[in-house]
Amino acid sequence: MKNTVKWLGHATFEITTSKGTKIYLDPWFDKNPSNPFDLSEIEGADLILVTHDHFDHFSDAVALAEKSGAILVIQPEIAWNIIDQGFPKEQVVKESGMNIGGTVEISNIRITMVQAFHTSGLGSPAGFIIELEDGKIIYHAGDTGIFSSMELLGNLYPIDLALLPIGGCVTMDVYQAVKALELLKPKMAIPMHYGTFPKLVSDPEDFISLAREKLPDIDVAAIKPGENYLL
Ligand code: NI
Ligand code: MN
Repeated sequence: MKNTVKWLGHATFEITTSKGTKIYLDPWFDKNPSNPFDLSEIEGADLILVTHDHFDHFSDAVALAEKSGAILVIQPEIAWNIIDQGFPKEQVVKESGMNIGGTVEISNIRITMVQAFHTSGLGSPAGFIIELEDGKIIYHAGDTGIFSSMELLGNLYPIDLALLPIGGCVTMDVYQAVKALELLKPKMAIPMHYGTFPKLVSDPEDFISLAREKLPDIDVAAIKPGENYLL
């Protein structure tokens, strides 16, 4: 049995692990023009990971947590804010959030929060290294520009699948994202955070062709919103 990684457009992914655990990353549904699903169609969730509090990553996270009972994996400043507004602290990771450098283990899934270079309202932007129950490792970069410590992340964690923004303007573009792949050395990469808005101009085919030319040992594939990648 494999893990299923479904792209829901933009930075939103649904991971259903081989053990049946359901993880949502940066859940953005109803106003996400590239998400084929409405929030009302989503049934259960166990873990919800949020890289930063920009609307296109965070705006449906609390509603999904409330309807599913999932644990929200977020930073302290975001946690304090929603707890102040009545969100139950029992549904926040470690009841008050986690931060960059930290690793938590929930339901046999190890989640490490890592740096990202971007902006945010509360807290600071982050990415996640997620080790699933069967040992497979996924890196979700969040919104970020390239940074040289990606090489360190690649040395610390043998990444099976990297989910990288390529859209440009507010994150890495294709040129930076291919260099990021060289630093991270994942087995496989899927591009995200492109095409949703007119200013996110990158073409995923440019990412794939440049990556294949420069890094033939790394598999790259663009999947469409709603499509699965089996890991
Ligand atoms: Ni952002
Ligand atoms: Mn974004």
